[in-house]
Amino acid sequence: MLLVYMSIVGNTRRFVNKFDYPLLEISEANCFTEVDQDFIMIVPTYEIEVTDIMNDFIETGANLTHCQGVIGGGNRNFNDLFCFTAKDLALDYDLPLLHEFEFMGSVNDVNKVKEIVKHLENTHSV
Ligand SMILES: Cc1cc2nc3c(=O)[nH]c(=O)nc-3n(C[C@H](O)[C@H](O)[C@H](O)COP(=O)(O)O)c2cc1C
Repeated sequence: MLLVYMSIVGNTRRFVNKFDYPLLEISEANCFTEVDQDFIMIVPTYEIEVTDIMNDFIETGANLTHCQGVIGGGNRNFNDLFCFTAKDLALDYDLPLLHEFEFMGSVNDVNKVKEIVKHLENTHSV
């Protein structure tokens, strides 16, 4: 499973590097890249002006049809605003919100995401 992510400070980058999955980091330089394989989006939480590169990415070509869901990174100190970027993306594009984690994720978060990916890959191979 391809993990498509963005990272400003580096937490999300550190999180995705805990897996052996192929990675695609989105920035302003490549946010209109078209992919032809299933992927999960992993997004930290910032104001829309910062994260709209992920909207650009998902709206490019047929990317939306390949997106299996969204995982959010954030900080629980933001209370009701915890992981709102991932929640908004899931809502706006009718995608499942698969998981939320804080900062660079814990061992539990890593295991949970591995389970989710395994489940998605099994579902899709039938
Ligand atoms: C300016 C700023 C605003 C943030 N706003 C939120 C927020 O509203 N909700 C949230 O859950 N986390 C918020 N965060 C926390 C980041 O989403 C979190 O630290 C994340 O791990 C950063 O990912 P990155 O290091 O990959 O950029 C904010 C962080 C900063 C610096």
